[in-house]
Amino acid sequence: MSTSEPPSRQDLPLGVFDSGLGGLSVVRALRACLPNENIVYLGDTARVPYGTKGKDTVVRYALACAQYLKQSQVKAIVVACNTVSAVAPAALRAEFDLPIIGVIEPGARAAVEASVTGKIGVLATAGTVASGAYPRAIASFSTRAETFAVAAPLLVPLAEEGWTTGEVPELAVTRYIKRLAGQAIDAVVLGCTHYPILRETIARVVQQELGDHVALIDSGEAAARDVLAFLSLRGLRRSAKESGTIHVRVTDLPGNFGELATRFLGESIAHVKQVDL
Ligand code: DGL
Repeated sequence: MSTSEPPSRQDLPLGVFDSGLGGLSVVRALRACLPNENIVYLGDTARVPYGTKGKDTVVRYALACAQYLKQSQVKAIVVACNTVSAVAPAALRAEFDLPIIGVIEPGARAAVEASVTGKIGVLATAGTVASGAYPRAIASFSTRAETFAVAAPLLVPLAEEGWTTGEVPELAVTRYIKRLAGQAIDAVVLGCTHYPILRETIARVVQQELGDHVALIDSGEAAARDVLAFLSLRGLRRSAKESGTIHVRVTDLPGNFGELATRFLGESIAHVKQVDL
């Protein structure tokens, strides 16, 4: 008789994907909420950025990422990418018989909860802004809230590069944040999972340009709280109490991905494996 039983569903890993490094900001938040979950992270580095591409292309890439994670036998998929969460959840849910959790609804809800003026700024990729997903999600939580969305595409390559502080990121962030000035905005959503990597710079510029009363909302942190609630409700939390593992997969040469991932997650990522989708 075989001694190796297949793991029960609750003990399967969580699958998490993004176009690149950005989704690790969601992994960091997941680790804080759910430290004993095992995680398989896929960064589609061969095709980053997603945010400048058309909807059909992003849906196609997202289906390929989710297919890889399904084959890795995950219990649920966390879409750690706003651009994918904006355009692909319906296609993902139609294709895969797995729970799919995105970042836009949780980010929108957290912003509505944090805002007193009801004026909410959103920094996101061009694709997310064009989709109108944030104004829609915010309106579904508050009829009086008003959304001001700004596309901030340059921040994605800066984050991928690990170039997070200093003159160049500061200039780019300032250009984008200035577009939100004068609207009585008191909450700004980091509506791309790459942006928390530049959080220090963004926070400083927001304070400078919009005032020090503005809440910065990390859509990934909000999503991690939803994942915790979802797994608890479904009885899907991993039973083992020891710290979970993180397996990182990328679709292009790992390069310095492991080093940046280690720096960003604050824990060492020993092994980054390249895979083909
Ligand atoms: N991190 C992703 C997002 O949240 C995508 C960034 C990109 O690839 O353009 O939108």
